[in-house]
Amino acid sequence: MIANNPKSNDRRIIGLEDFDHAHMELIDLCKRIDWACSNDTTVPGIRERIRTFLMYARWHFAEEEMWMRTIHYHGFVDHQADHAQLLQDATDFIDSFGPALRRQDGPAVACYFRFWLNRHMSEKDKQLRAFMCSTA
Ligand SMILES: [Fe+2]
Ligand SMILES: [Fe+2]
Repeated sequence: MIANNPKSNDRRIIGLEDFDHAHMELIDLCKRIDWACSNDTTVPGIRERIRTFLMYARWHFAEEEMWMRTIHYHGFVDHQADHAQLLQDATDFIDSFGPALRRQDGPAVACYFRFWLNRHMSEKDKQLRAFMCSTA
């Protein structure tokens, strides 16, 4: 499962093929929110894409947590707490728009998702990768 690629500077790469794929998919889902906003998609359509992103993020986080438990990762509690915080922050951010989300708000949502995703992947997911490489 380990795709050993220590020379990569791409912070999306954590060294696990399945997780890398999920990270790329999450980034792609952000792009789809942007795309929908610039292509006259209706607000319900944009909300649907936001929901899809969050559902996929929840699924990926659960997969990652299952894997961390399996390998007895010492940073599990901290990493899991960061996942929970990310999802809560995202929900709070979406709720802050209330029912009046406008099409032009979509890029801000996508930008926010990208921000927390990149932050998490470049810190917590990279730490997990380092642990896996050290025990491989
Ligand atoms: Fe993670
Ligand atoms: Fe991840």
